[in-house]
Amino acid sequence: MDKRIVVVTGAFGSLGRAVVGRALEQGALVAQVDVSEARLGEQHADEARTLVLGGVDLADAEAARAAFARVDSHFGGLDALLNIAGGFAWQTVANGDLATWDRMFALNLRTAVSASMAALPFLEKSASGAIVNVGALGAVKAGVGMGAYAASKAGIAKLTESLAEEFKGKVTVNAVLPSIIDTPANRADMPGADFGKWVRPEDLAEAILFLASKKSRAITGALLPVTGGV
Ligand SMILES: NC(=O)c1ccc[n+]([C@@H]2O[C@H](COP(=O)([O-])OP(=O)(O)OC[C@H]3O[C@@H](n4cnc5c(N)ncnc54)[C@H](OP(=O)(O)O)[C@@H]3O)[C@@H](O)[C@H]2O)c1
Repeated sequence: MDKRIVVVTGAFGSLGRAVVGRALEQGALVAQVDVSEARLGEQHADEARTLVLGGVDLADAEAARAAFARVDSHFGGLDALLNIAGGFAWQTVANGDLATWDRMFALNLRTAVSASMAALPFLEKSASGAIVNVGALGAVKAGVGMGAYAASKAGIAKLTESLAEEFKGKVTVNAVLPSIIDTPANRADMPGADFGKWVRPEDLAEAILFLASKKSRAITGALLPVTGGV
């Protein structure tokens, strides 16, 4: 990842932070984009290698375009987009509401489409442009209460396949499909679980960064399960 210019969306979340940390360790120049403002005040040791953009709602096409224009003017290009922004909701259909379906689609799918649209003009200029999306293993066979979430993440899988075909030979487009990530939120929600079986964020970060690197230039349209011991 040495000197590769990458955008990490959802950069202030559990997985986003792990990806930002590993990307910087591997020598990348990293733009951190998130709707949250929470980590805006925090400094990174090497400010020349990271740009922090908080308060950016990627579901808003204009906000996304403005953020990627800032990345381009700051770093002078873009090599990889890591679409990590997203979230989860559990709700049965019988006791559910349409607002949850709208929220899941906006959070998981609209953000990725909007960020991709804003990034692609820059990625096409890179000699080795890449997009890595985060789908979910739970979208391959959805369980009870997983409808809205799994449908939005199934959308990520289809976006990945379709965009990979659209940009074949120009920009690679792949997705990881995690099972359960070992995050503080998941530990709080499932206190009785065996945390050791879950995917460690730093391990998932390695898979994402491989797909964002030049080493994976022959891989596009792949949906890679990253499941740890689950
Ligand atoms: N955790 C798991 O077990 C698991 C399993 C499979 C897949 N995934 C996927 O992995 C990704 C990361 O998960 P995580 O556990 O790290 O989630 P997380 O800690 O909630 O981080 C997600 C980040 O994305 C931000 N975000 C939300 N909406 C946004 C928007 N419209 N524009 C820009 N940023 C936005 C969030 O900000 P706010 O906090 O302010 O909303 C948050 O900082 C997600 O796509 C998730 O669906 C997670």
